[in-house]
Amino acid sequence: MKIAITGTPGTGKTVAAEGLRRKGFEVMSVEQIIESHGIEKEYDEASDSYLVDTEELQRIPLEGNTLFIEGHLSHYTDVDVIVVLRCHPAVLRERLLERGYSEKKLTENVMAEILDVILVESLIRGKKVYEINTTGVSAEDVVGKLVGITEGITDGLSPGRVDWSEEMTSWD
Ligand SMILES: Nc1ncnc2c1ncn2[C@@H]1O[C@H](COP(=O)(O)OP(=O)(O)OP(=O)(O)O)[C@@H](O)[C@H]1O
Ligand SMILES: [Mg+2]
Repeated sequence: MKIAITGTPGTGKTVAAEGLRRKGFEVMSVEQIIESHGIEKEYDEASDSYLVDTEELQRIPLEGNTLFIEGHLSHYTDVDVIVVLRCHPAVLRERLLERGYSEKKLTENVMAEILDVILVESLIRGKKVYEINTTGVSAEDVVGKLVGITEGITDGLSPGRVDWSEEMTSWD
């Protein structure tokens, strides 16, 4: 079984990956896959981010015993299960502010979180999808839930429970 850990930038994928590694799980980042397979990245000025051919990413067979793949494009890799990390928009905004994101990039990412963009991208891949709301949940507990998924413990993680639509009303 291969499990993708995906989610809007800032939702805590890398922190969760570090926790899993400390517990002895093998976690690969999508960046590593992109680099080792020489997949081209194209810088997109409009979004101040790198664009990757996701069709190409889907075609790469994931070898070895790596259980987890992390990154905001990991739902496009050849996994069996996709876990989408979610974070309350206000909390996410603070985290991305700390990173020094521009106002434009910040708004784009917070908007994407509110609109379930990565969840929808994940659901249309036709794989098993789970959601973890990480808001107010320690990194250790997020790791615990991810380990639980490997053991078939998925109570409360079915997609559709996270709903940030109320947040839209606070936008002017
Ligand atoms: N469970 C958590 N509770 C509180 N803060 C967290 C938690 N997980 C991550 N953070 C904090 O949120 C920020 C973003 O975390 P992280 O770098 O893991 O996000 P990411 O999802 O990997 O983002 P990106 O897609 O840009 O790589 C960091 O400052 C991290 O310390
Ligand atoms: Mg990361």
